[in-house]
Amino acid sequence: MINVEHLHYSYKIGKKGKKSTVPVLKDVNLEVGKGEIVSIVGRSGSGKSTLLNLLSGYITADSGKITINDRDVTNLSEKEWAKFRLEHFGFIFQNYELIPSLTAFENVELPLTLKGVPRKQREERTQILLESIGLSAHEDHYPNELSGGQQQRVSIARALITEPDIIFADEPTGSLDSETEEDVLKLIKDLNKNRNITFLMITHDQEVAAIADRTLKIHDGKMNQERGVYFEAR
Ligand SMILES: Nc1ncnc2c1ncn2[C@@H]1O[C@H](COP(=O)(O)OP(=O)(O)OP(=O)(O)O)[C@@H](O)[C@H]1O
Ligand SMILES: [Mg+2]
Repeated sequence: MINVEHLHYSYKIGKKGKKSTVPVLKDVNLEVGKGEIVSIVGRSGSGKSTLLNLLSGYITADSGKITINDRDVTNLSEKEWAKFRLEHFGFIFQNYELIPSLTAFENVELPLTLKGVPRKQREERTQILLESIGLSAHEDHYPNELSGGQQQRVSIARALITEPDIIFADEPTGSLDSETEEDVLKLIKDLNKNRNITFLMITHDQEVAAIADRTLKIHDGKMNQERGVYFEAR
């Protein structure tokens, strides 16, 4: 499903005459199978978000190879990435990243609009999904009229609406209280089981790592493959 070989990435910083590079990932290797939940841990600044940005095509590796769904995506153009993301990926972020001027319903519907799905079909699918996730009563609320947990459920619905193969999550429960976190994690686990969606989740949180099939750790720019549940507090 996801295969990463010898991935290297450095940020280029500074102005003319004072340029430098910050090596972040040095020879990262990773393999994630269909239907797996893999969590990635590592200290702040270790390169977790950088890895996610590489896997989703927002930045391009210096060297190495990324294969997703048997396609070599290492050097896709921006346009090809946009299409690939819309077809295969869903995203969940710590701060939800909903569009404030759209209602819950419209936020969830948006990826289908971008995909060019006809209106009637869009509205039907959004309706069904919001119902299944227990949000119908709040569909006309704007993000600032929803609780944190409700906003995160809307963002999960938005990630799901296109029926992605993979959901990338960067600290998906980082802003939630422990009870709401439990609900969101249960939802993720159910989606994984019932729809066989692959999850790659970055986390600092033991509760999140606990629902994963495997936990990997980025350290010194490298990925340590660990079998079984593994967690080290930062
Ligand atoms: N746009 C950028 N330009 C230069 N350096 C960057 C940039 N983004 C991140 N970095 C540096 O790259 C390193 C890795 O950052 P990254 O955001 O991937 O860490 P992280 O593991 O996600 O950390 P956190 O747990 O705090 O979110 C850090 O040292 C950071 O300062
Ligand atoms: Mg990060």
